[in-house]
Amino acid sequence: MLSRSAARLLTTQTRAFSTTSTRQTKVAVLGAGGGIGQPLSLLLKIDPLVSSLSLYDIRGAPGVAADVSHIDTDSTVKGYTADQLDDALDGAKVVVIPAGVPRKPGMTRDDLFNTNASIVRDLAASVGRVAPEAHILVISNPVNSTVPIVAKTLEKAGVFDPRRLFGVTSLDVVRAARFLGEVSGNDPKNTVIPVVGGHSGATIVPLLSQNAYGKSISGETYSKLVHRIQFGGDEVVKAKDGAGSATLSMAYAGAKFANAILRGLNGEKGVITPTFVKSELFADQGVDFFSSNVELGKNGVEKIYPVGPLSAEEQKLLEACLPDLKKNIEKGYAFVA
Ligand code: NAD
Ligand code: LMR
Repeated sequence: MLSRSAARLLTTQTRAFSTTSTRQTKVAVLGAGGGIGQPLSLLLKIDPLVSSLSLYDIRGAPGVAADVSHIDTDSTVKGYTADQLDDALDGAKVVVIPAGVPRKPGMTRDDLFNTNASIVRDLAASVGRVAPEAHILVISNPVNSTVPIVAKTLEKAGVFDPRRLFGVTSLDVVRAARFLGEVSGNDPKNTVIPVVGGHSGATIVPLLSQNAYGKSISGETYSKLVHRIQFGGDEVVKAKDGAGSATLSMAYAGAKFANAILRGLNGEKGVITPTFVKSELFADQGVDFFSSNVELGKNGVEKIYPVGPLSAEEQKLLEACLPDLKKNIEKGYAFVA
């Protein structure tokens, strides 16, 4: 029997997912056997907006599915082996992709490109063929390049709809709230810091000035906080010492983002969160994809918000972000071309 505290934790976790109506959805996880895939599948199993969960990996997914399927929520779960990708995708409205290798100490996210680019491209081609209307949520790194890879792959197949492709940058938003809470003493639960740009080092631009607690941080505390948000991933990679990168906090952030997508699909209004999407905001500077606050709806992206007022420091961070981001995006495009 569950201890009282464990039961309370589960209840709280189930409540962490908002639900406003009863329409439910099939969600596929590609890479479900991995460090992120497993806890993400668990969290999706307890999201009331998921009616059916399709777990795919080149190894281990049936085992994860059997395990997760015993959880006492209403959704069904099925695991698929390497040769069953089309079955896994059939009818999926949302496809989450955490497939690919993670970093080891000393590596940048871009060092993962050679391995992950082709994994993501091939999975995207299958999604485009089997579930062309699905919302695709890309977690695999380097996100700044893998998202353009998915876009070009779908474009080649004639099925790219920019409203339905998302780079998952929600871990940066989660970290910004948590790390700010540590320096200012506020509860991160009620803190929202827009994090814009991309998802690696200097391309991660936290807009602390847009938060009541964040705007009072200055000097060395500010510089250290920005650095920690930009390089939070390295902290985990170093601590795991060769065993991978963030998995549990990523699963949490990914499930939170998937829930926002599902609420939008369900017709809920006012669902707004930062995510890396095809965007006109800095397209005139050659930056075709950019993360900023996005309103989600029945067809995915409803509205892309501009970055809003920036402090002088944030203006500098943005200037440093754009050239790096442009290079990462072009590298993704070139891979598919
Ligand atoms: P992992 O190695 O633990 O798991 C990856 C899984 O992908 C494995 O189970 C593997 O079998 C599977 N896989 C490999 N090729 C596949 C394919 N062709 N089809 C289906 N599955 C395939 O790695 P992880 O820690 O879960 O990280 C996964 C990815 O997520 C990495 O690229 C990592 O850098 C990235 N990541 C992104 C963020 C973010 O904020 N966007 C955060 C953390 C990690
Ligand atoms: C993160 O931000 O934790 C992920 O992108 C994984 C990594 O390589 O740091």
